[in-house]
Amino acid sequence: MTMLAHEMKRLWMVLVLFMVFSMWQHCATGDPLVPCYFIFGDSLADNGNNNMLQTLAKVDYAPYGVDFPNGPSGRFCNGLTVVDVIAEILGFHSYIPPFAAAKEADILHGVNYASGAAGIRDETGQELGERICMNMQLQNHHKTVQNLIGMLGNESALRNLNKCLYSVGMGNNDYLNNYFLPQYFPTSHEYTLEKYTQLLIEQYSQQLRSLYELGARKLVVFGLGKIGCVPGAIDTYGTNGSACVELLNNASQLFNSKLLPVIDELNDDLPDAKIIYINNYKIGEDSTVLDFKVNNTACCPSSTIGQCIPDQVPCQNRTQYMFWDSFHPTEIFNIFYAERSYSALDPSYAYPYDIRHLISLDQGVAEAK
Ligand SMILES: *[C@@H]1O[C@H](CO)[C@@H](O)[C@H](O)[C@H]1NC(C)=O
Ligand SMILES: *[C@@H]1O[C@H](CO)[C@@H](O)[C@H](O)[C@H]1NC(C)=O
Ligand SMILES: *[C@@H]1O[C@H](CO)[C@@H](O)[C@H](O)[C@H]1NC(C)=O
Ligand SMILES: *[C@@H]1O[C@H](CO)[C@@H](O)[C@H](O)[C@H]1NC(C)=O
Ligand SMILES: *[C@@H]1O[C@H](CO)[C@@H](O)[C@H](O)[C@H]1NC(C)=O
Repeated sequence: MTMLAHEMKRLWMVLVLFMVFSMWQHCATGDPLVPCYFIFGDSLADNGNNNMLQTLAKVDYAPYGVDFPNGPSGRFCNGLTVVDVIAEILGFHSYIPPFAAAKEADILHGVNYASGAAGIRDETGQELGERICMNMQLQNHHKTVQNLIGMLGNESALRNLNKCLYSVGMGNNDYLNNYFLPQYFPTSHEYTLEKYTQLLIEQYSQQLRSLYELGARKLVVFGLGKIGCVPGAIDTYGTNGSACVELLNNASQLFNSKLLPVIDELNDDLPDAKIIYINNYKIGEDSTVLDFKVNNTACCPSSTIGQCIPDQVPCQNRTQYMFWDSFHPTEIFNIFYAERSYSALDPSYAYPYDIRHLISLDQGVAEAK
């Protein structure tokens, strides 16, 4: 690492720590910036929902959580996930609990429904075992909404649900654990990549509408990152001389390019909806400022399905690795990512605006009337 890069990285880390800490301080004394945060997603956001499922996609064992206060929790990371960091920045006193373990009092502040291996399509990830697909996550949220109505009454529950922040990050597994696994899934024989992506986006759009029907108004949708650069994909597909698996990165870009107009469409169609898109792809590219020493090998010794082998010693210097296991980024990358989706330092990071702006907006007509 050059001196300059080294200094920049240190400066950056100090800045982030300062920001996270000052926000933590702020929340120690005040209410969170939004009353509740509901999370939908895959292994990038799962924080324990898969622990009780019959699946290979679960990570409730060491060395997962080596940098997390309570050790292994089911997070596919050494420490915090992106949604954990967002919850911290928003000023929540504790992380949003997994649906699988949420108590009745918790649900007022939000629930995390995310599940490793899950996708937009129901069958996605089934080669690994049980998972909670997006449609099922929406059903689980429906149960939460019913519980809230039971606790608060219909109108008050809906008013609360309108004020919450919602985030959704889906699609990775519809490629990595579906379309690009022709030995398990017929989709690549049935559809061109273009057609498959179109179908995915149509289904995703319906799912986002359902979330709106359940009271969501402020909604963050995470686009896909460079799935062709994860070590597990490079090992499986090879790069043919490039740094990454081009075909997979192209699929991400195709997905994102079809998702963006849907964001506009939903904002136009759904009264009071404020839906934003986070450009994972670009933020990931800009993570070069973190000057990782190792960007194509997992920090922990990984199994054939790309997860850490239980109880093996991980790399020491985890801030120098982009990837924790063969598919999931390290905590430092997640902090970098969450920071930038919250406050888009570059306008290309968020469309039409960032999370900070989203949560500052009044809840439109209902309150204006
Ligand atoms: C709850 O309230 C909303 C809005 O006031 C109304 O549209 C809906 O029908 C009510 N639902 C029930 C189950 O009472
Ligand atoms: C890893 O870093 C090297 C050197 O900066 C770069 O050339 C390469 O493209 C990077 N690979 C990935 C997968 O980002
Ligand atoms: C690998 O790269 C070569 C040269 O760019 C190209 O001709 C070939 O089609 C590529 N193969 C695959 C499988 O992408
Ligand atoms: C990926 O997209 C680029 C740019 O459109 C194109 O040049 C390249 O051939 C594509 N690669 C693959 C493997 O599809
Ligand atoms: C970890 O990284 C720091 C900063 O680059 C370096 O000073 C230290 O020697 C590294 N430690 C290990 C165990 O690799």
